Amino acid sequence: MSSLLQGVNLYLIGKMGVGKTTVGRLLAKELGYGFVDTDDVIAQATGKSINQIFAESGEAAFRQVESDVLAQVCAFTKLTIATGGGIILRRENWGYLHHGLIVWLDAPVELIYSRLAEDSTRPLLQDPDPKGKLRSLLEERIPLYSQADLRIPVGEGDTPEDIAKRVLEGIPSVLKKPVSH
Ligand code: S3P
Repeated sequence: MSSLLQGVNLYLIGKMGVGKTTVGRLLAKELGYGFVDTDDVIAQATGKSINQIFAESGEAAFRQVESDVLAQVCAFTKLTIATGGGIILRRENWGYLHHGLIVWLDAPVELIYSRLAEDSTRPLLQDPDPKGKLRSLLEERIPLYSQADLRIPVGEGDTPEDIAKRVLEGIPSVLKKPVSH
């Protein structure tokens, strides 16, 4: 599989809490790739948690750092990259994502909500109506996530290993065919 990919990066996109980081690590191991989580790079680069950046500087400032990090990451090859759920919002980010293969991990909102109900690390869900907020975020984002090269459905009983396997099985169908002479 890694020879088929020829070092092309895999970008995992999808809702917060869908498992991009866990699945991304597994995929990187399987492919002999490096692993990067854009939120972790942002936290390291700024010395602040994602919550802190949102609280002190606002979402727009966070999105700018997120784009800067993505621009730097996409200069490398042989990486699996777990992105933040909102990376698809900026048009310029798509220019970077399209350097690699974009994989959408797609889980139903109920599953995401049950996983994140006790979570306090997602600033966008610090809302009086977190479920409503999640639903409206998703309605706005689904047309964007749909622009991925590959959509992988994620259901309640799926383990990260199941999901990683599904991604690996799906990749050949979306790889650009080499030009034959
Ligand atoms: C966000 C998702 C988070 C993080 C930030 C904003 C979003 O990443 O980037 O809280 O807009 O959906 P995860 O998708 O890893 O939770």
